[in-house]
Amino acid sequence: MKKRIITACLCLAVAGSLGVFAGCSEAPAGASGAEAVAAEGAPALQPTDHAGKFERGGANMCYGCHGNGSLANPQLKGAVIIPEDHYADGSYDSKELDPLRAECITCHPVA
Ligand code: HEC
Ligand code: HEC
Repeated sequence: MKKRIITACLCLAVAGSLGVFAGCSEAPAGASGAEAVAAEGAPALQPTDHAGKFERGGANMCYGCHGNGSLANPQLKGAVIIPEDHYADGSYDSKELDPLRAECITCHPVA
């Protein structure tokens, strides 16, 4: 399930002309990427007050509130915790995001 969602999102990234992940040819069977995401639960949208954040600070800025810090996870009380599958080695202990997740905005556009 997760693999398909990720594939769908990466294909959307290509379709959205970011073009970073060239060569994404594995389309989910029987449905367009967008339909697959909708069917399996789309990633949450960023709240409108997040507009421009990704452009300004990239994944590091997101991490500053949503990520696992030395004192708390998430670092900002009240921020939604990033799922463990977003981390390198699939573990919060790595305190590093999986490079595949770096383009947050691809899967989590601003509402
Ligand atoms: C200054 C702290 C801060 C930063 C920086 C920040 N966020 Fe958030 N984010 C929050 C808080 C607090 C919430 C929850 C409250 C709300 O919905 O407004 C939230 C909510 C969200 C949600 C909605 C989650 C849900 O289940 O509804 C997403 C998605 C999200 N942020 C993604 C991002 C991404 C991607 C970035 C980087 C571009 C980012 N955030 C940067 C504080 C932050
Ligand atoms: C390839 C697509 C993809 C990318 C890139 C991605 N995410 Fe996600 N994200 C998801 C999906 C799908 C979920 C929902 C379920 C899960 O994976 O556990 C999710 C869930 C979340 C949640 C929890 C929202 C909730 O309502 O519980 C947060 C917070 C979040 N992501 C933040 C980020 C941040 C910050 C980045 C960039 C560093 C990022 N994501 C990059 C696909 C992505």
